[in-house]
Amino acid sequence: MPMYAFLAWLQTHAEGLPEHRIANIFEPRSTPGDMERHIANLTLGITGIIFVVVGGLIVYTIWRFRRKPGDDSRQEPPQVYGSNQIEIAWTVIPILIVFILIGVSARVIAAIQNASPPHSTLKIRLIGHQWWWEVEYPDFKVKTANEIHVPVNADGHTATYLQLESLDVIHSFWVPQIAGKTDLIPNRVNYMWIDPKEAGIFFGNCAEYCGTQHANMLLRLVVQPQNEFNAWVAQQAQPAEANPVDPGVAQGKNMFESLACVNCHRVQGTTATGVFGPDLTHLMSRQTIGAGVLPMNHQNLRDWVNDPQNAKPGCFMPSMKLTDAELDQVVSYLESLR
Ligand code: CUA
Repeated sequence: MPMYAFLAWLQTHAEGLPEHRIANIFEPRSTPGDMERHIANLTLGITGIIFVVVGGLIVYTIWRFRRKPGDDSRQEPPQVYGSNQIEIAWTVIPILIVFILIGVSARVIAAIQNASPPHSTLKIRLIGHQWWWEVEYPDFKVKTANEIHVPVNADGHTATYLQLESLDVIHSFWVPQIAGKTDLIPNRVNYMWIDPKEAGIFFGNCAEYCGTQHANMLLRLVVQPQNEFNAWVAQQAQPAEANPVDPGVAQGKNMFESLACVNCHRVQGTTATGVFGPDLTHLMSRQTIGAGVLPMNHQNLRDWVNDPQNAKPGCFMPSMKLTDAELDQVVSYLESLR
């Protein structure tokens, strides 16, 4: 193992995965993002030159033809018809520039869309909901929410293909350091692929206004070394404990199953089979509650179950109006879902 790889290994293992909270399109960590950065640079370069030339000419004109002492204010400026050469030039040059930008963009879009999947391809079905992300791994019978785990592309042949769908309105998948946006559209299936080249947690969000809580439809892309991803997916495929040993947890499970929670949430291996809300089978393995609204901890989870409208007004999870004792039971059950 080369020295830098060993150091990177040490770092990710000593401190957990590095977090990339600043979503910077100019620091791509995936092939599509990298290809798109080149167009962004080219477009910014060309439009930057246009800005300097046009802005410079305006400043020059304002300065050069300003009113000077001794000007006769009653005299009209000379009236000129115009210049055919200049008008043809400022029509033809912008058209050429636009065609160059269209051509370059079309080439990159085609190259990204026509790329054929490498051998070791992971398939993920991503479904947009108001206001959370359903993440399904069809090959592993795994469902989770708001955190997408994928293996890092360490060998140059590992990619993840995303199948994007929506159950209600149009959402848009965007992890800026990984790839451009792709919409999740009802009654339509979109596809995209990513191949993150660096382990870490990359932050993203919904990029299409989809209702009140659009801004709280956050997303984490957890890029892991292949062996860690394999361990994660194997763990996620496990059903929840059907008969918890801990009496407090067992009591909480009974309470949870007696409430309307089970109409919307699934806990694999139990009678909770709802599909409207996020799958809770491994709830505690996630870092946040409510698609990034609150960090996952005991107090936040309790506050959330008590009244989700407090942290995320307008979301479709109602307050169940539980007593303190019922709340404690439900939360102790949820906290057993690891
Ligand atoms: Cu979903 Cu904006």
